[in-house]
This record gives sequence, C-alpha cells and structure tokens, in this order.
Amino acid sequence: MSPPLRAAVIGLGWAGSVHAQALARIDGVELVAVADTDPTRRAAYPHLYQAADVTGLLGHDLDYCVVATPTATHEQVGLTLADAGINALIEKPLAPTLAAALRLAAAFEQRGLVASVGHTERRNPAIAELATRLRAGDFGDLYALATRRHSPFPDRIRDTGVVSDIGIHDVDLIAYLTGRPISSVAARTASLTGRGHDDLAVAWCLLDDGGLASMELSRVAPLKERLLVLHTAAGRVSVDAVTRTITHHTNAAIGAGAPLTGFRGMSRGRVISHHIEGPEPFHAQSLAFRDALRGRAHDLVTLREGVAAVAATEAILAAARLGTDVPVATSIIPKASHAVEESPL
Ligand SMILES: NC(=O)c1ccc[n+]([C@@H]2O[C@H](COP(=O)([O-])OP(=O)(O)OC[C@H]3O[C@@H](n4cnc5c(N)ncnc54)[C@H](O)[C@@H]3O)[C@@H](O)[C@H]2O)c1
Repeated sequence: MSPPLRAAVIGLGWAGSVHAQALARIDGVELVAVADTDPTRRAAYPHLYQAADVTGLLGHDLDYCVVATPTATHEQVGLTLADAGINALIEKPLAPTLAAALRLAAAFEQRGLVASVGHTERRNPAIAELATRLRAGDFGDLYALATRRHSPFPDRIRDTGVVSDIGIHDVDLIAYLTGRPISSVAARTASLTGRGHDDLAVAWCLLDDGGLASMELSRVAPLKERLLVLHTAAGRVSVDAVTRTITHHTNAAIGAGAPLTGFRGMSRGRVISHHIEGPEPFHAQSLAFRDALRGRAHDLVTLREGVAAVAATEAILAAARLGTDVPVATSIIPKASHAVEESPL
C-alpha cells in the first residue's frame, strides 16, 4: 500500500479550517503542515509543522497544498507552489484578474502538475443531483436558468466584491449545468458598504448557443439564500442549495412517454419535491483531489474552468462599469466540464 499523501493548508481562516477538517477525515491523506501569516491561527494546529507563509513549507516533501488565503494572494502563493513542483487545490476565485488566472493555469499545466479550483458549489448534493438528472435528459430541453445568491456581509472578505466572491459560484454553475460557456454579459452593480467593492449585482448572461441565464447577488442581506430556477421542457425545476431540496413543477402539457424536446406548451402539473442527501462538499472535493493524485478517475474542476469563471465575473464587472454588453473571452473557456478525467500522473 502506498504511504499517505502529505498535504498542507495555507491560510487558516474560514475556508482553510474547513479544508483542514476535511483532510483530517479522509483515508490516504495526512495533513502534515499548515501556514498562516497570523501566528494565532497557526497555534490552533500545535501537532503540525507550522510556517508563516508558503515559502516556509517548501522542502517539506509535500504532495500537495490547499491554498485558502485571500484571493489577492492566490497568484503569488500558487506560482510559488508551481515553481516548486507542488500540486495545488486553489480556492475560488482562482485569481483576482483574468490575466493572473491565466498565468496560474499556465504555470501548473506547463509542469504537468495536478491542480484544481475550489468551486465547491458543484458538490452541493442537490446541485450534483440536478446535474446528473439534466445530463440524463430527465427535464428535456433547458430554456433558461436564473440564480439568486444572498448573504449577510462577510466581514472577513475585504479584497473582492459580491460578484467575484459569490457570483463566481453562479457563473461556474451556469456553465457547468448548461454545458454551454457564457459568451456575453450585461450587468448593474451597487456599492452600499463603502468598502470600495460591489455589494449588490444583477447580471444577464447570453450562452454560447443563444440560451439565457441571469443572476441576482447580494452580500447585504439579512439571510442566506442560494436558489437556482431552471425553465425546462418538463416544467420548472428549482434547487434550494441551503436546504438541499429539488422541486419540480411538472409540465402537464407533456404526455407520458412524449419526447422532452422542442416547446410543446406549458401547463400546471404535479409538484414533486425531494430533499437530497449526500457528502459534505469540501469532503467530496478532498476525495477527488486524492483520487487525481493517485491516478484514479476523478471529477476535479480544472484550472481552465476556474479561468473561465474569472473571465465571466471580470466581464460582468466591466459591463456594469461601462453600461454595455461585454463579450466573455470564450477562446479560453474549456470544453465539457463534467467529463471524468484520468490523471496525467
Ligand atoms: N469554496 C468556498 O465555498 C469558499 C468559501 C469561503 C471562502 N472561500 C475562498 O477562500 C479564500 C479565503 O477566504 P476565507 O473566508 O477563509 O478568508 P479568511 O480571511 O477567513 O482567511 C484567510 C486566512 O489567510 C491568512 N493569510 C493571508 N495572507 C496570507 C499569506 N500570504 N500566506 C498565508 N496566510 C495568509 C489570513 O491570516 C487568514 O487566516 C478566498 O479566496 C475565498 O474566496 C471559498
């Protein structure tokens, strides 16, 4: 049996702590080191090797690192790891700008390293189930998709606004669930908190094949809401990612056994609601990274998909600034995102 993979977590705030807990629970991986610029954060891991930053971890024979530092630091931390030949799971958003995200993706690709970006929303059990059912054709043609993501103000996130911080999940989900890249966007944003970033946003996305998607984002809400609504040939399908529930308002205009293609009319049918159980998303992501490093089949989110998400959020911010539609750099957007890949290692 091979020895456990040696892992470290860099950045021990909210996300880093969740990663550390996930790594501690999976077989075949040993969390051996942590790094954080804040000594009080490191002190919570007295049994592990501790460093102040990424450079202090080099030379410790690590198989991979989780980068959970603020987004503004992802490029510097990630490039240091790539230069040292260390595989990495980098939190979302991959980088603060498209240019930085492209540099990161190129650095890991050129060295043939395993790298992924933490788009954990795909691993929410209800969203994973929705993706499976969409690909199986259960809902037929998908006409349009709308997302609503509201949160209270996250005092710890200071380097990004609502679009880059949480809207990044929605642009990734739109491309992942529809299987179509976002080709252009229009948007408006508002800043309420005086932190110099967008706190509210609405964005409209045109997909590669003319499909429609929209997003409504707030980080100044008194509640947490994560909602997706899909308009499909089989009726309306909504996912509440907080309660992990899928609700299908069926289309009675489609008879039993009728093909779910083309628009065949829409009328009110039965309402079917399911609570979906499944593994905790960070745990599932840790398992996928371990499997990728072990050369097993896996479903890691590629850095190119992370780049595509940053391209879309950057276009949304530009569209809001300019007040016009802005194209998304589709040439860098990857093909089918859900394919299970074999690791190059
Ligand atoms: N996938 C998700 O659902 C999810 C959820 C929350 C946050 N995130 C992402 O995780 C990242 C961190 O967010 P957070 O909420 O945990 O922030 P946080 O502020 O709670 O934690 C960041 C930690 O990094 C440390 N740090 C800062 N610069 C560092 C450096 N150069 N080297 C080492 N340590 C450094 C800080 O001291 C702090 O402990 C962000 O990119 C964020 O977008 C992802």
